[in-house]
Amino acid sequence: MEQKVLTLKGTDTEVVLKIADCTEILYWGEAFESHSENEEQTLSRAIPYGRLDTDIPMTLSPELGRGLFSSPALEGHRNGQHWAPVFVNQSVEQEGDLLTIEATDAQAGLKLISELSLDKNDVVKVRHTLKNEMSGPYSVNRLASTLPLPERAKELLTYYGRWVNEFQQTRTLLTQGGYQQENRRGRTSHEHYPAFIAGTKGFDELHGESWGFHLAWSGNHRMRVDVKADGRRFMQAEALYLPGEIVLEQGESISTPWLYATYSENGLNQMSHHFHQHVRDSILGDRMADKPRPVHLNTWEGIYFEHDPAYIMDMATQSAEMGVERFIIDDGWFRNRNGDKAALGDWYLDEGKYPEGLDKIVEHVNDSGMEFGLWFEPEMINKDSDLYRAHPEWLLAVDGYEQPTGRNQYAINLQIDEAFDYLFERLDHFLSAYNIAYIKWDMNREIVQPGHNGFASGHRQIERYYELVDKLMAKHPQVEIESCAAGGGRIDYEVLKRTMRFWASDNNDALERQQIQRGMSYFFPPEVMGCHIGARHCHSTRRTHDINFRGLTALFGHMGIELDPVKESEHEKGGFVKYIELHKQLRPLLHSGKGVRFETDDEAHLAYGVIGTDQQEAVIMIAQLAMPTNSLSSTLRIPGLLAGAHYKITLLDSPENFNDIVNRQPLWTEQPVICSGDWLAKAGIAVPVLDPETAVLIKLEKIS
Ligand code: DGJ
Repeated sequence: MEQKVLTLKGTDTEVVLKIADCTEILYWGEAFESHSENEEQTLSRAIPYGRLDTDIPMTLSPELGRGLFSSPALEGHRNGQHWAPVFVNQSVEQEGDLLTIEATDAQAGLKLISELSLDKNDVVKVRHTLKNEMSGPYSVNRLASTLPLPERAKELLTYYGRWVNEFQQTRTLLTQGGYQQENRRGRTSHEHYPAFIAGTKGFDELHGESWGFHLAWSGNHRMRVDVKADGRRFMQAEALYLPGEIVLEQGESISTPWLYATYSENGLNQMSHHFHQHVRDSILGDRMADKPRPVHLNTWEGIYFEHDPAYIMDMATQSAEMGVERFIIDDGWFRNRNGDKAALGDWYLDEGKYPEGLDKIVEHVNDSGMEFGLWFEPEMINKDSDLYRAHPEWLLAVDGYEQPTGRNQYAINLQIDEAFDYLFERLDHFLSAYNIAYIKWDMNREIVQPGHNGFASGHRQIERYYELVDKLMAKHPQVEIESCAAGGGRIDYEVLKRTMRFWASDNNDALERQQIQRGMSYFFPPEVMGCHIGARHCHSTRRTHDINFRGLTALFGHMGIELDPVKESEHEKGGFVKYIELHKQLRPLLHSGKGVRFETDDEAHLAYGVIGTDQQEAVIMIAQLAMPTNSLSSTLRIPGLLAGAHYKITLLDSPENFNDIVNRQPLWTEQPVICSGDWLAKAGIAVPVLDPETAVLIKLEKIS
């Protein structure tokens, strides 16, 4: 194909591509003021001795057959042949911000379609589709998306975690070699959240260049960064296929998941703004535009499996009095579900527990001014269930092997049409029979042997899960779904296309939540982050926290309460009312503005805030996580406001003992102080003295 240089433009960034026989990203970074003809020639590389005799571009889809000794984007074969294809571009089309490039390898009988876009929020999206155009099955071992990184991307921020400890971060130096993470747990996973961030040395919230990547896929994946022996570097992300699971017959195709990426010139906050805005504009779209996120009361940690309708109605009454807007009955409502060992799959109301049905409760919840929500775990089955007794063959398994259980349960093979239809029918029944506004869709085990007719089938299982949700949503578009997988085990952009809330973690300990939510905030805006005020005595860590710390920690996200209000003291209930009220007041700002993770001088502090898009107001929480290092707690600089405008600083909330633990707190906490945005960014405000595991909330309002 004749060589073309094409530019994709975002708002602050751009991507320049050289498209000839193959496609190379020449540049991805800060936007240029203008372009002149042939300027890409400045990047034409040397051809050193001791290597191949021609220049080998680092393409959008690296191929061994082209002489690129890197991790190939496609690995596959046709009965041992056609294992090193070389694709030659045939056509390029640009429609809006989407570029589509079609390439073929006629000898191998394969077509590769690459789609790449850069939107106004500066988010790059890329995916590839491989089509078998020749007779004879083509086995695909790998199909990855690849994006280049410059040599100055010398550090990597990656995620690790586990149940009740999601979104933990660590840093690695990108010198020689590289980094690889593989997820084989069959769901997005707590352990290998499918994202990482590369950056220049020492990149932080405000400084340094950073390149963020997120793979939108809820199953097994592989993500890597390679530092090539010649110094060039690139990242790659793919759905990880199990042996033999992707075989394309003639005419069939397979697509990679979408890979989302963004470049930020000014540290991680700017990277998050790009991703958050993209989530709002393009992933959530108008699905929740006009609806403030309703405050939840979830029954789980309040009553677990002890369901008594009269008592639940009491809980609902008290929830409504506290200002709750959506009441959710969690696990324990269906036939024989008295603990976590039995009944998954039997999606029939437990008439022993609910002899008068659910109607009365739903009506009561609705009459109290709240929406009603119900918990399901559709993809799962207990061996002790009527469903298993009737259909032992519905297990997602490989015959002849006994796989370990997870939370005493197994997964259902969604590739069996009868199983899929049964689950659809059961969910559809409840959504049709009752006024259900929301489903908490749980998934509590990892997938060990995703077998279908003896073949590996983990990838298809995930596609069928998406299909099941999509089919339900098409029939019940008014219902909102929360994605939960034992807390934060299924949090990714592909799920978010069909859900509106994530249960970030089963850990309701406010201290742990400060870190978990901060980790999640790099890629997700607060309105999709389920954050609950739990009981004073936390169930997952046995720590005790006052309502101030619990309330402020849950304040910014999609807020909820998770406890039994009937058993709470008047003092505690007063606290719930206060923080629900505060949340409702601030909600329009919190769920539309720019989230900012502030840099603090003392690691014992975490500061997070939201600045309105028009920079008229901001709300900031300073949390004291541990003993402060020094007796004076330094200053917090607050960038992001209008330099020339003046703002009034007000203390909105503080712990009960705030003034008892010092002779005097900083002056601004006692009386409103006014200063410029410039002053706030450069000089900042004195941080109050706080006890560990407490927090303050500050409001900044522009004065005219
Ligand atoms: C795990 C979830 O993360 C919890 O919130 C709760 O819904 C339980 N499952 C119920 O079994």
